[in-house]
Amino acid sequence: MSESGRGTCACLARAAVTVALVAWTAGLVAVTAAGAPPQDADESSVWDGVYTEAQAARGARAYAEHCGRCHGSDLSGGEYRALRGDRFWASWQGTSVGDLLQRISTTMPMSENGAAAGSLGAGVYADIVAHILRSNEFPAGTSALTADSGAGVRIVPAGGATELPAGSFIYVLGCLAPGEGRDWLVRQATLPARVTSGQEIDLSMPPGDREFALKFVITPLGPLSGHRVAVRATLMGDGGVDGLNVTSVESVSESC
Ligand code: HEC
Repeated sequence: MSESGRGTCACLARAAVTVALVAWTAGLVAVTAAGAPPQDADESSVWDGVYTEAQAARGARAYAEHCGRCHGSDLSGGEYRALRGDRFWASWQGTSVGDLLQRISTTMPMSENGAAAGSLGAGVYADIVAHILRSNEFPAGTSALTADSGAGVRIVPAGGATELPAGSFIYVLGCLAPGEGRDWLVRQATLPARVTSGQEIDLSMPPGDREFALKFVITPLGPLSGHRVAVRATLMGDGGVDGLNVTSVESVSESC
């Protein structure tokens, strides 16, 4: 399993395809660095160089002091979760650097009575996030990351948004229908949407064309057959190709 797969190898191919298409439609040959795909003008991403090398170096020292014992000295996990590679993508793809910074600066370092959370100061948290970005192989740039500058910076694979990776905690809305044997399916389902803490399910999402198999369902779903349901789950396989490892199924409407 490649540690930083999404950021590099698999995605360079995609980035190259995007660049080729853009060059073709524009009728000119664009020279675009690999890993820096074209972006909408008002949207930046982690591939645009959103922190500095000096900042990441400071962040590495602060990380070693305050975070490494729980998340591993090289961020690959230890007592708790990894902050790089596949686990990073599963937790953060589709969110923003601002979301990541916000989460860390309000909840970390974790401590028994919670007193350490938020104790480090805004600059130190930004430095630590710069170190996390560098460790995930996003390029450095010329201006330092701040709480303000991180807000609109999307965490997306090179080449643009793709399916959310396996292991992402998500929800979908769809029609509950019996599948093969004792299995259940959600049909006409929306794209998986990430569940961020405290977030409400967006019931206004229009029906989609996805179908997912529900796995590891504990409660009997017969009474909800034919309902429009909201399913909270962890994706099995990228985009949920292997099904949804279900946390909860709620009816949002009796008809679908
Ligand atoms: C005493 C142990 C401890 C320390 C120290 C600590 N953390 Fe954590 N961290 C946790 C736990 C526990 C969780 C929640 C669940 C888990 O990751 O297993 C967590 C979760 C996180 C997450 C969310 C991970 C995800 O995939 O959702 C991030 C990011 C994070 N920590 C960053 C940091 C940073 C940066 C520091 C240093 C400023 C830090 N942590 C210090 C224990 C710790």
